[in-house]
Amino acid sequence: MTEVLKIENLHKSFGDLNVLNGIDLSVAKGDTIVILGASGSGKSTLLRCVNFMEIPSSGRIVLQGKPVGTEKADGINYPEKELTGLRARVGMVFQHFNLFPHMNVKQNVMEGPRTVLKCNQAECARRAEEYLDKVGLGWKAEAFPSQLSGGQQQRVAIARALAMEPEIMLFDEATSALDPELVGEVLETMKELADEGMTMLIVTHELGFAYTVADRVLFLADGKILEQGDPEKVLIHPQQEGTKNFLRGHGSFRLPEPVLD
Ligand SMILES: Nc1ncnc2c1ncn2[C@@H]1O[C@H](COP(=O)(O)OP(=O)(O)O)[C@@H](O)[C@H]1O
Ligand SMILES: [Mg+2]
Repeated sequence: MTEVLKIENLHKSFGDLNVLNGIDLSVAKGDTIVILGASGSGKSTLLRCVNFMEIPSSGRIVLQGKPVGTEKADGINYPEKELTGLRARVGMVFQHFNLFPHMNVKQNVMEGPRTVLKCNQAECARRAEEYLDKVGLGWKAEAFPSQLSGGQQQRVAIARALAMEPEIMLFDEATSALDPELVGEVLETMKELADEGMTMLIVTHELGFAYTVADRVLFLADGKILEQGDPEKVLIHPQQEGTKNFLRGHGSFRLPEPVLD
């Protein structure tokens, strides 16, 4: 097994609010892991610690076998240069796409490889073409974000993250801001990535998607992983009262709609 990511005893507090209270997780290459939990349970904080948008209070993030940061007497030191390099290896897709409005789609996708990875123009263009094709939007390369639907914009945001050729992709409620009829195309893109072997950590409330796509489902509560296992175990036969209550609140779930275009 190639372990892409390991999270060891991760704690994160904001002042006296303890959000993460000892998270351990091992993610193998090609794993698709869905993270569930009530609002405020720390799902976003967990993803943000993995790409160091938040600095862990304690514990360790290990990427491709190498612990991030340097252990010092008073804790772990995280040099900014190391974190910048690390963030380029961890792709992230958010609820709000934040495309650059003054750049066309292709320029949006080229921007990371150009400015962060210092790729040459030909390589930036190659990546933009490859990853826009992958999300089915090669034909929109010259369009501006305002000319796209929300679902198309989110797929561009996915292509933009993929263009960095990351080792793992994090999705934080990537479909939550979309109109219901646009959710399916984004989930379909995410499913294709999973099928191709991309390593992914996904926060979503789309339980049908979790059921069909996840290798493993984690349920977060009180800053810990309350329950985890394959989708059948966690979503159909939950053991913990907290998981059961969460699932009661979500009612029955449907499998993703077919994409028929
Ligand atoms: N930067 C921050 N400063 C203070 N509190 C925060 C910060 N980020 C998150 N929190 C708090 O941490 C808790 C978990 O938040 P979050 O990780 O966003 O939960 P989730 O994504 O599961 O809804 C919430 O109580 C939230 O208010
Ligand atoms: Mg969140």
